[in-house]
Amino acid sequence: MRLLITGSNGQLGQEFYRIKSLSKHKFLFTDYNQLNICSIDSINSYMSDIKVDCIINCAAYTDVRKAEVEREKAFDVNSNGVKNLVVYCEKTQTRLIHFSTDYVYNSLNKKPINEDELIDPQNYYGYSKREGEKHIENSKGESIVIRTSWLYSKYGNNFVNTIIDKSKTGKNLKVINDQFGCPTYAKDLAETVIKILEIDKRIDEKTKIFNYSNGGSTNWFDFAKKILKLYGSKIKIEPVDSEYFKDEAKRPKFSITSKQKIINTFNLEINNWDSSLTNYVINDLK
Ligand SMILES: NC(=O)c1ccc[n+]([C@@H]2O[C@H](COP(=O)([O-])OP(=O)(O)OC[C@H]3O[C@@H](n4cnc5c(N)ncnc54)[C@H](OP(=O)(O)O)[C@@H]3O)[C@@H](O)[C@H]2O)c1
Repeated sequence: MRLLITGSNGQLGQEFYRIKSLSKHKFLFTDYNQLNICSIDSINSYMSDIKVDCIINCAAYTDVRKAEVEREKAFDVNSNGVKNLVVYCEKTQTRLIHFSTDYVYNSLNKKPINEDELIDPQNYYGYSKREGEKHIENSKGESIVIRTSWLYSKYGNNFVNTIIDKSKTGKNLKVINDQFGCPTYAKDLAETVIKILEIDKRIDEKTKIFNYSNGGSTNWFDFAKKILKLYGSKIKIEPVDSEYFKDEAKRPKFSITSKQKIINTFNLEINNWDSSLTNYVINDLK
């Protein structure tokens, strides 16, 4: 397959770059300067003499706090940009894999959240990502949306790297313990996308949305505790409520997703979050 990655300088985009040498597929990597998903002209111009089997859209506006004020920008990338890709992919019969977020949910019933559960984004980032999903849901093309959560990798700003960086200062840490969710190692997600494409299963029009994260669940405090233990840090860590930190964006307290649908549909096995974290900190971070 010929696979085109958009937003290739981001966390997930760079994981595709890392796995490309182990893959039998041909990858084309594009960053914002080569292919701006917000511009139809940019898409058409870049693609004018290229034909690919699938576009994997790693381009996104992902700053959850800033999205509260930079609303237009967040909407442009997370909704209009997706619409542009959908139009291109329908026209050229190209598959599209797109990523969304657990922040589209706000479950109150404390059971793992299924894809068809109530959508109720609590912040503007979640809202803009949901608007992007709708273009895929309404498209006739072979496209899917993978809703992921708590993503981390070697590249970019993420919770795991932040905790490790803070531990180097030697100062004690306060971390919230009342938000629950599912971490995702971006490398696992990138490998899963390739498996899904290789299975080449026709997707029912009504089932284009799938949750994906590593298995199991945790809260930010326990996640941080495990990161520090694996890293060998001796700093002290104290649990606090969400209210302790000022946050411009409201976040769901319970964000544990069910992965049963993606597992059953594509016959996948998913690594547990703590084994993937161990692999990341012990093997891949070096
Ligand atoms: N990070 C998380 O915890 C998390 C959680 C749930 C879901 N997700 C979803 O997972 C996907 C991957 O996230 P990520 O963490 O890899 O994001 P990321 O690191 O922020 O990467 C996004 C990339 O897209 C680029 N980009 C922005 N606007 C663009 C445009 N108009 N055209 C082309 N490229 C553009 C960015 O460039 P600049 O940096 O130059 O702007 C950046 O390189 C996203 O869809 C995100 O919403 C992430």
